Amino acid sequence: MRLKHQITAAKLMGYNRFLLTAALCSSLLYGCAVDEAPSADSTTKTDGGMVATRSALASQIGADILAQGGNAIDAAVAVGFALAVTYPAAGNLGGGGFMVISLADGTTVANDHREMAPDRATKDMFLNIDSQVVEGLSTRSHLSSGVPGSVAGLLDALEKYGTMSRAEVIQPAIDLAVKGIVLDADLAGSFQRHIEEFIDYPATAAIFTRDGEAYQVADLWVQADLGASLERIKADGKAGFYAGKTADLLVAEMQRGGGLISHADLRNYHSVWRQPIKGSYRGYDIVSMPPPSSGGILLVQMLNMLETFDIAGMGHGSVQSIHTLIEAQRRAYADRATYLGDSDFYPVPISKLTNKAYALARFADFDPSKASLSQSTGAGQLPAESMETTHASIIDRHGNAVAYTTTLNLSYGSKIVVPGAGFLLNNEMDDFVLKENVANYYGLVGGEANSIQPGKRMLSSMSPTIVRKDDQPLLVTGSPGGSTIITTPLQVIINVLDHGMSLADAVASPRFHHQWLPDEVLIEPGAVSPQTQTALAAMGHQEFVLLEPDALLGDANSVMRVAKDFVGVADPRGAGAAVGVRASK
Ligand code: DON
Repeated sequence: MRLKHQITAAKLMGYNRFLLTAALCSSLLYGCAVDEAPSADSTTKTDGGMVATRSALASQIGADILAQGGNAIDAAVAVGFALAVTYPAAGNLGGGGFMVISLADGTTVANDHREMAPDRATKDMFLNIDSQVVEGLSTRSHLSSGVPGSVAGLLDALEKYGTMSRAEVIQPAIDLAVKGIVLDADLAGSFQRHIEEFIDYPATAAIFTRDGEAYQVADLWVQADLGASLERIKADGKAGFYAGKTADLLVAEMQRGGGLISHADLRNYHSVWRQPIKGSYRGYDIVSMPPPSSGGILLVQMLNMLETFDIAGMGHGSVQSIHTLIEAQRRAYADRATYLGDSDFYPVPISKLTNKAYALARFADFDPSKASLSQSTGAGQLPAESMETTHASIIDRHGNAVAYTTTLNLSYGSKIVVPGAGFLLNNEMDDFVLKENVANYYGLVGGEANSIQPGKRMLSSMSPTIVRKDDQPLLVTGSPGGSTIITTPLQVIINVLDHGMSLADAVASPRFHHQWLPDEVLIEPGAVSPQTQTALAAMGHQEFVLLEPDALLGDANSVMRVAKDFVGVADPRGAGAAVGVRASK
């Protein structure tokens, strides 16, 4: 597996953030109404609420909403719309996401706004007449898009649990789109790296290039069409996206490019309120995303397997702790391939998979001195295309918290902008099983549970997660990373709860990942020392893939309550920022 995140070295990111903050503060849009400027390092601490996202501009918008008296849900929705403007590789109107919410009264709920397969989708739509998967069809074509869910989900969350008006939470995003943002090295660099893909589509090139040439750092980047699409949502709510001009433009582009999404698909799209997956780990409650994500189930399953071991006593980075975690990951991901899919279409055995007794039985064949073997067939190598999802963590001083993960699937999704509407379409259809036991982009395999059916939502790994103590949110985390997403919050949680690390160390600490197939351990530099790797190899862990510094595991922008304060951490692997507000505000 070759993961290709667009992540530059941590130091450079600090510099990018500085540039961005400088640009922000010098712009007329925001003046310098910054309660807590993004800090030079990756940690921010304050007492009135905290927002950590991949985009300093989006974090600032979320913090402004909290400072204006909005709650964490208001801030999350504003962040969602802002990310569509400031972080177009993953933030979106044309994609989907998940929002896990923990309310001050102790209630927890999850909004599923995952894309749905269009009504005319068929199980074999990505196969040729010889029943072979047609390369690129599920990632780089109009057929690759599911019916977008983000707008419905964000507006439903605002209506149900927010306190502010639609205009109040969308206007900051409109301002950024219409007045423009100053490109920092992170965004300009990302556009430059993808320019070859953008120029395939005139409407995409019109936005992400300057007349076919690469944008440069410090250029002003204006997105007028996207601003107009956001205006229509502000004016008409969901109808401003799923009907009217935006819907007409989207359907026209589908018809032009041979895609399937119709007016009826858009009209019928709906987000779903679901009960989160709930588990416990050493006295803490784990609240995470249910199907159509596999994230919550696998996270709880792995924590259940690990709970009976003295992970802290083994020591962080030790042979024994890495071996134990790999074996938990291997078993959980093997279950994913068989049992997980959209529970509205397939009977996912949720309670069994998250049951502690099941985890014990599942882990009974664990040998502390020897690696198990994953079957060695079925999973393929991944092409070296970059991928992008993004996670935001938000907590307010009233006791509400939101874990929000959103995506177009791969970086910039299908790369297809809806002409005149200014937003990219997702290529989420690749998350379905295109053909039994043929690996998708992330090397994941599966079967009937995740087969394509009209109206079904493709299985995800996105794992927005809230750890609670005594019914109150303690830690909010999540990550991008495709198949590797789930093992990132796993390690952040274990680092905090077992190894007693600060949130900053827990997030920054090098990670590793195993997903059953392919049978290999991905390791970030520093995650496994040479001696540890030798010892693990002797136990049967044969295949290690050392990741390049620009292709690391995840981007876990996280927030945590520490005594009366809130700590926010932008993962040093990404160029995000944590921005807090003071309680006195
Ligand atoms: O839902 C999923 O599991 C994938 N579509 C997520 C894609 C992703 O994380 C890409 N980013 N790094």
